[in-house]
Amino acid sequence: MTAPLVLGIESSCDETGVGLVRGHELLADALASSVDEHARFGGVVPEVASRAHLQAMVPAVQRALDKAEVTLRQVDAIAVTAGPGLAGALLVGVSAAKAYALALGKPLYGVNHLAAHISVDQLEHGPLPMPSIALLVSGGHSSLLEVRSLTGDITSLGATIDDAAGEAYDKVARLLGLPFPGGPPIDAAAREGNPEAMAFPRAKYRDGTFDFSFSGLKTAVARWVEARQAAGEPVPVADVAASFQEAVADVLTRKAVRACTARGIDHLVISGGVAANSRLRALAAERCEAAGITLRVPRPGLCTDNGAMVAALGSDLVAAGVAPSAPDFPADSGLPVTEVLARVLA
Ligand code: KG4
Ligand code: ZN
Repeated sequence: MTAPLVLGIESSCDETGVGLVRGHELLADALASSVDEHARFGGVVPEVASRAHLQAMVPAVQRALDKAEVTLRQVDAIAVTAGPGLAGALLVGVSAAKAYALALGKPLYGVNHLAAHISVDQLEHGPLPMPSIALLVSGGHSSLLEVRSLTGDITSLGATIDDAAGEAYDKVARLLGLPFPGGPPIDAAAREGNPEAMAFPRAKYRDGTFDFSFSGLKTAVARWVEARQAAGEPVPVADVAASFQEAVADVLTRKAVRACTARGIDHLVISGGVAANSRLRALAAERCEAAGITLRVPRPGLCTDNGAMVAALGSDLVAAGVAPSAPDFPADSGLPVTEVLARVLA
């Protein structure tokens, strides 16, 4: 028997993503991004993102169906990001998904964006062994999670107490005069730089928690750059980028490996936009190998926001026989990571 065909819709930030999966097989992943419309503001403007989702949604669904060579009627279940994310942006995806589900008479799963970021790795590397530790690093989140079941048992071990890792990349890029989003240009600039040129701070490095803090690092970089500019000297962008990136990758991988050893878990999955970072991937591979941990990181295109990740988690929920969300489940900008599936508020 073939596995159910699941359509996934993602609209929590600036990417309109529509994915189609069958089991853990990725059939199509259509993406439309409004990133260019936000670039001049140096960050995502919620209302601009919502409007772009509205325009991109139906064409993206059609592109995904065309790519997979299926029709809407063949879809067995629909999953959509219910949260966390930007309220207005989420609302577009949730409303679209409800309309499709109602019109087609198919079950609808309102799912957690963070759990979806973890589930997507299975489309590339097969079923995720349980338990696993997940390091989730994106523009909005930096979390260490213990995953006992992707469909309902995820606990938080620690999280950022201020800026998310991706947010720090975006802010540092801005002060170096690099474009938004800052991750890719810093990653590229860092390849030409010396990661030991400046000793930027590694906050909460040995504090015994699984929390992160990146706001002090961002400020340290800002002060260093300002001092240079005040002295009328050129800013060595590649060295600053490499030294900043080294500090981020060092703290993230150190804590992720420590979480695995502390919890006696030998599988680590890293996901979210920052998991596309080349230095984070390389250092994580090195440190996991030394600690006897099996590392799984999706290919960069699946790390950043996409619809396939939502379809992947939807597929897990369908396979586990979990009941769908109630039809009036809300878009919840603050949906906690422990809530994999959104239901109606009491
Ligand atoms: O997961 P994502 O696409 O959206 C959120 O859920 O936030 O993550 C976006 C973040 C941005 O902050 C972006 O700068 C960062 O991921 N990012 C990277 C790289 N590619 C994207 N950060 C570091 N290195 C990269 N190569
Ligand atoms: Zn994300």
